[in-house]
Amino acid sequence: MNLLDQIRFNAQKNLQRIVLPESLESRTLKAADQVLGEKIANIILLGDRSSILNKAKENQLKNIEQAILVDPIRHDKKDHYVRLMVELRKHKGMTEDEAGKLIEDPLYLATLMIKNGDADGEVAGAMNATGDVLRPPLQYVKTLPGISVVSGSFIMIIPDTEFGENGILVFADCAVHPNPDEKQLAEIAVATAKTTRDIAGIDPRVAMLSFSTKGSAKHEMVDLVVNATAIAKKMDPSLQIDGELQADAAIIESIGAKKAPGSKIAGKANVLIFPDLNSGNIAYKLVQRLAKAEAIGPILQGMAAPINDLSRGCSVSDIVNMIAITANQAIGIKK
Ligand code: ACO
Repeated sequence: MNLLDQIRFNAQKNLQRIVLPESLESRTLKAADQVLGEKIANIILLGDRSSILNKAKENQLKNIEQAILVDPIRHDKKDHYVRLMVELRKHKGMTEDEAGKLIEDPLYLATLMIKNGDADGEVAGAMNATGDVLRPPLQYVKTLPGISVVSGSFIMIIPDTEFGENGILVFADCAVHPNPDEKQLAEIAVATAKTTRDIAGIDPRVAMLSFSTKGSAKHEMVDLVVNATAIAKKMDPSLQIDGELQADAAIIESIGAKKAPGSKIAGKANVLIFPDLNSGNIAYKLVQRLAKAEAIGPILQGMAAPINDLSRGCSVSDIVNMIAITANQAIGIKK
């Protein structure tokens, strides 16, 4: 069974409730229909009931009637969510009036459903920009205990290579936090190791990447990676991690042995942590295009509940996969 089949299979064994705020977006509705048909997750669609059902009929989507439909303008819990929003954000000046308007936005409604325990995870982003998808959960769902930063990883499946774990490597942060400090970089490493275990089913070996290997260059940017590695080891003493390593020393055995002799990670890394968002985002896109790798993600990590952002160019099958990944994360968090 390949990795994506395994992820779907895991989701089918323990159905989670995934809320889709962009329910009138065609690819999202088709993905919802497929997920319901294949019993990958229970689906909650946010939007006007008759518009959703008409659109489903136009597209001959027969499974949509199994979804729970919630109209953001009129539903039983609207006043309760408004009170919750005010309670959670009154220190930021949130008023009942403002909350009353925001809660009619499906992206906020999805977040409040998760916060209130009425949904297990969310997938959005087929028609909204990353910032608009992430801002409500960053404000209301917040981060897991012990983690202060949300980041985004990609599972890279690279054809015809044995680098990483038989061609699978996990990259982070490629999607969210532009300029992490040393503590935040350490948290990104710990969170990515968890994603690697929970979603890719791989025992993580983490390389903290830099332009230097073991003191070959001196610079404050190198110090940040060295310090982050030490903090990550303190956060999780069982974590297999090493740094600072250059990318070639991290993944190629002969170079790792030469540049970082004695390292248990050099040459064998299957998780690559980039020092900032510029390097992480550029690296995943280059590997995806030049090596023709499949890039699964971004998988958001560190959030207290699983919420994932799609690319606006996503396909129906990308959305189905992301719903299955989100369900797996929900199962992992509940454990
Ligand atoms: N982790 C945890 N909390 C965060 C994070 C984070 N990474 N970023 C922001 N927050 C919190 C803030 O602390 C703040 O909380 P508060 O309101 O309770 O004080 C809240 O979120 C809002 O913070 P802002 O800084 O106002 O949020 P903003 O919307 O400006 O930025 C965002 C957040 C959208 C994630 C921003 O950092 C961003 O645009 N990142 C880059 C995303 C991107 O473009 N990625 C590349 C494309 S994706 C791809 O190619 C796959």
